Amino acid sequence: MSTQIKFILNEEVVTTNTPSGRTLLDFIRNEAKLTGTKEGCREGDCGACTVLLGELVGDHVHYKTINSCLYPIGKVNGKHVVTIEGISSDQLTPVQNAYVSENASQCGFCTPGFIISTTGYLLENEALNFESAVESISGNICRCTGYKSIERAVKTINDEIRDVKKEMNHFSSLVKKNIIPEYFISISNRLKELGKTKSIEAKSAMFIGGGTDLYVQKEDELKNSNPVFITDSSLPKIWEERDRLFISGSTTFEEFANSENIQKIIPDIKIINKLIASLPIRNSATIAGNIVNASPIGDMTIILLALNTIVHLSEDGRNRQVPLRQFFKGYKTIDKTSTEIINVFEIEFPKESTFFAFEKISKRTHLDIASVNSAISITVNDDQIISCGLSFGGVAPIPLFLENTSSYLEGKELSEEVLNESLKLIDEEISPISDVRGSTEYKRLLAKQIFKSHFMKLFPHKISMESFK
Ligand code: FES
Ligand code: FES
Repeated sequence: MSTQIKFILNEEVVTTNTPSGRTLLDFIRNEAKLTGTKEGCREGDCGACTVLLGELVGDHVHYKTINSCLYPIGKVNGKHVVTIEGISSDQLTPVQNAYVSENASQCGFCTPGFIISTTGYLLENEALNFESAVESISGNICRCTGYKSIERAVKTINDEIRDVKKEMNHFSSLVKKNIIPEYFISISNRLKELGKTKSIEAKSAMFIGGGTDLYVQKEDELKNSNPVFITDSSLPKIWEERDRLFISGSTTFEEFANSENIQKIIPDIKIINKLIASLPIRNSATIAGNIVNASPIGDMTIILLALNTIVHLSEDGRNRQVPLRQFFKGYKTIDKTSTEIINVFEIEFPKESTFFAFEKISKRTHLDIASVNSAISITVNDDQIISCGLSFGGVAPIPLFLENTSSYLEGKELSEEVLNESLKLIDEEISPISDVRGSTEYKRLLAKQIFKSHFMKLFPHKISMESFK
């Protein structure tokens, strides 16, 4: 039995009984017959399927780019979806004009995705700069034009709009410049009206957070289902309580990295996030999804392991807590029943002298699966190690907390001798296998090099390459 989904697609309200587990891309192309949104990889890699998703936050609509090929339509209930048709008219918009004038399109297959990403950037960024403009198209691939002309197009539009935006109300200025059509102004009130409609009912035992990995693996299984979507908008996403930080399971990677509290704990989180995934994926993928995926090389998992995270689970009103370091029981096996939900993650707010580092080695620098990744959270006072959490991915069947090495380091002096001894313990604790991402020997070498890199990066006054034998 299907369930009714209601949302605004470009200018029109759409009501559909399509199964809520079906992808937004399939609905847009096959049912709404809007074929400007393209189907390329269906894996979140190419960005040909990029659309804007607008959500009411207070009185304002916030837009983000998503990959519609990995986005279940049930998650757009009560929201605004914008495809390339929703920003186009008889005349090209200034964004489209910039792409034309810089010869930034050839076959055109990728172009709607690029235009949507660039428009989304102009909608959401108050202060425009070239670097973030280029970052906004990090999830879009073009196979024929060459990226320099695309970068020039992005620069042209960035320069053209930058000053206008400073002066005027945000959306009005973009409407006036013909970047978006006038109907965008009324979307906020229309979404409020839509918010009075019933939320959709879930009728299956399948839970979905962001779905960015699940839809690559199991789309066939999901397309006729009505799953449960884990989105608790009644809770703040990240909040502080008595020296503890709480992170809702439905927090997306992008929300995580934009949190000031998280930035205090992981100062490089925005840079790390860009290594991990493209913007549309980061706008969808959730922290809880990364944990339950239980990939031995899940980047967020490795970060949260180092931070000694507590997992809060619930089922039928019953709650329990499990340290993340005890959550992984074997390859893809976790301490969670099929009907339990991860509500929240809890971490201790680190002390002033706590330092954090993350490293990831993969075949491609950006947006690739790690061969080996690692995080460390370490508290050091007067060269004395007070506490240490060291985690590694890609070196065992599970995301690995290195219990022996971490406890060996605690209470020790930050010295060359201690670090060299730690390298031996790391070798004993890890058990990497040879696979497409590298041989056993290579991964053992990487793990040790990454460990050295953590200390050289965090304590450059004391530790250098020469410190290691
Ligand atoms: Fe390639 Fe969606 S079709 S990212
Ligand atoms: Fe052909 Fe980009 S213009 S793929």
